[in-house]
Amino acid sequence: MKSKVSFVCQECGYDSPQWLGKCPECGMWNSLKEISHFVETSRDKQNSIGNINKNITPKRLSEIKFERKQRLLTGFSELDTVLGGGIVKGSAVLLAGDPGIGKSTLLLQLALNLASTSSQKTQNTQHIRKSDNQKLRQSGLLSFPSVPNVLYISGEESEEQVKLRADRINPSARSGSKTHSNLLLLSNTNTDLVCGIIVKVKPMLVIIDSIQTMESENVSGLSGSVGQVRYSAFQFIKIAKTFGIPIIMVGHVTKEGMVAGPMVLSHMVDTVLFLEGEKFTATRILRSLKNRFGPVDEVGIFAMEGVGVKELNSPEQLFLSKHNDKTISGSILSVTMEGTRAFLIEIQALVLSSKIPIPRRVASGIDYKRLELLLAVLQKHCNIPLSGMDVFVNVIGGIKLSDPATDLAICLAIISSFKNINLSQKVGIGEVGLLGELRKASSLEKRIKDARKLGFRDIISSDKFKTLKQVVNSLSNDPPSLKLRKGHASKLEKEAEGN
Ligand code: TYD
Ligand code: MG
Repeated sequence: MKSKVSFVCQECGYDSPQWLGKCPECGMWNSLKEISHFVETSRDKQNSIGNINKNITPKRLSEIKFERKQRLLTGFSELDTVLGGGIVKGSAVLLAGDPGIGKSTLLLQLALNLASTSSQKTQNTQHIRKSDNQKLRQSGLLSFPSVPNVLYISGEESEEQVKLRADRINPSARSGSKTHSNLLLLSNTNTDLVCGIIVKVKPMLVIIDSIQTMESENVSGLSGSVGQVRYSAFQFIKIAKTFGIPIIMVGHVTKEGMVAGPMVLSHMVDTVLFLEGEKFTATRILRSLKNRFGPVDEVGIFAMEGVGVKELNSPEQLFLSKHNDKTISGSILSVTMEGTRAFLIEIQALVLSSKIPIPRRVASGIDYKRLELLLAVLQKHCNIPLSGMDVFVNVIGGIKLSDPATDLAICLAIISSFKNINLSQKVGIGEVGLLGELRKASSLEKRIKDARKLGFRDIISSDKFKTLKQVVNSLSNDPPSLKLRKGHASKLEKEAEGN
């Protein structure tokens, strides 16, 4: 073995033999840091080539045994779905997200769930006869309990802090309970030491919180640098594969919205999960960005509460503001798809004449450029004079939309506010093209069905209209009672009714 020095970009992991001011891969300035690592000399290689020839032979496909049901259920059905049906034995999962979003809380709860079910499992299995036990083992149901422990490695918090959090989440579980004795905590940041402990304990699941705090003396650089993160992740993944112990690693995202050393970690692990949400709303969305053992378009919805995270199993109406004012303008519903799930969402817009030369356009929950584009389409193809107007668009519930099928609803919310028409009980589904045409949304039938199921019958989509202009014209043909005339028309109407 010989030590070798190379320069690695801290942003993208690009490896260069000499120092460069600018990374040729990602274009970042001053991001290359010196890292020394060991390389095999030609003699090492010769030895290892000999070893490979002696010990390792390829297997026939027919010889490889495939055990089913080797998945750990997490106790959160939402999380299980996102993972593709539970945690696969020997898999490495990266859970990424903003600091403070709830990664540690979610994982601690997962650990507590597993520790409590594993204590039940061991209790139950004591009564199972030996033959039954064998059957269960063959069916894969008992493929995990080497020792029914969950090992939680915290590099960020002390053991007392984690315990405090566990008490907050699950105040009923006493210190002496099985759950608590099955959950092993370790506050340490030394990768090599932690690896040794995992091998010794052989738990059913390991949680590393977080991978950026882990460091090793075998690699130069501070903890959190690409070299350290890459080394630590590699060591943990090696253990996961060798001993069949699943490992979940927490990764914080940097300012750029990537996991630190993202290129390095995301191709090393089997599954990349992303926990997202606004800090000041309780809703958290868990997505899988990569999954070797399941679909990548599933999402899980959670809510952050005072006593930990709760999963929301029927969140279809979560993103509505639930006002019942039938006279309000500037609000419309739409249906967005997240994976195979449809969510009803509310889009609000406020349009008013601007007092400044360049009017303001503020978009929250949708892409700002998308808003500009839709405003241009409205102006050009529907003759709506928006160039002197301030336009604000907001999606209720802190959800971020990238689904183009919500274009129509965004346009209609703007028209609703501009023309003072009430559309709040309508649902708009469709993509708007640059020529003002209405395109069919993906899985339109499912979206319509789900909206109907929740009681919304007035659905505007590409089924009925071909262009945005047709939609706008149809709105002006609505009975006048739906329109709000200038001033306090509705109030006057009510007064007239009273008389
Ligand atoms: P945490 O899991 O520490 O975030 P991360 O590990 O992603 O950095 O979550 C921290 C936030 O969650 C903190 O602002 C407090 C809040 N929280 C709750 O709302 N309820 C709880 O039960 C817990 C433990 C934390
Ligand atoms: Mg944390």
